[in-house]
Amino acid sequence: MKTLRTIATVRQSLAGRGRVGLVPTMGAFHEGHLALFRAAREECETVVVSLFVNPAQFAANEDLSRYPRDETRDAELAEEAGVDILLVPSAEEMYPDGYATWVDVEEIGAEGAARPGHFRGVATVCLKLFNIVQPQVAYFGQKDAQQAVLLLRMIRDLNVDLDLRIVPTVRDVDGLALSSRNAYLSERERRQALALPRALEAGRAANVEDSDPVAAVRGALNGLEPDYVELLDLDGIKILAAAARVGSTRLIDNVVLEGDLK
Ligand code: PAJ
Repeated sequence: MKTLRTIATVRQSLAGRGRVGLVPTMGAFHEGHLALFRAAREECETVVVSLFVNPAQFAANEDLSRYPRDETRDAELAEEAGVDILLVPSAEEMYPDGYATWVDVEEIGAEGAARPGHFRGVATVCLKLFNIVQPQVAYFGQKDAQQAVLLLRMIRDLNVDLDLRIVPTVRDVDGLALSSRNAYLSERERRQALALPRALEAGRAANVEDSDPVAAVRGALNGLEPDYVELLDLDGIKILAAAARVGSTRLIDNVVLEGDLK
């Protein structure tokens, strides 16, 4: 595996590399990230993982400065998963002085409304990475379902010639969705956080019984304060999504009620 830090070197080394799969990440790899790398490894000749803690998607009051960073460990895990190129661009090259162009997808839903500017940063950095790497396929996790929906809209609306693959959420044995932000949780908070996947499962059960899944989630959060509980509908795929704060850590999770997000 090669680690590349400039746009020019990544373009040079990708010339004539066959089917290229890109996995955009912000690092602090866990099994959720590795599932995306492995999916890309199975389908593509060349697997590129980008590692960039994108300042444009963090609001001023969010955790940009304390976001977990460990490039050495990440590089080892990526290499073991069969990644060919780890792209670690600099913020200076991604957003040089005078940077002025943003991608704003207007249909943003509750997660977008809860984090003003967040999805503008996500859409912009992803389109930049798609233009830099020019992959045939890009891989995203179902864990961030609203992000996946937003990026599907963006590539459709802007005619980006790319397939997106949405990989199922990887969870801990007890059901908590793996997230780089789980590293912030104390032991007690880690136990409290379990209410989020459990409440979503209660929502799934309610939906099967034809009662209101959103109300069921709200009723089962066991004291966790939700930012929102939302039913998303993407061309017939129904997703029940929620965000909640555990101490100072904000967690999101979702379950698919109908259809297949792939
Ligand atoms: P990050 O949080 O590092 O996540 C990178 C990718 O891993 C995303 O597509 C995310 O949905 C996926 N992922 C995270 N946890 C997962 C889990 N438990 N199971 C399956 N997939 C999981 O999401 C971002 O970075 C950024 O917003 C990014 C798209 C890189 C743009 O900056």
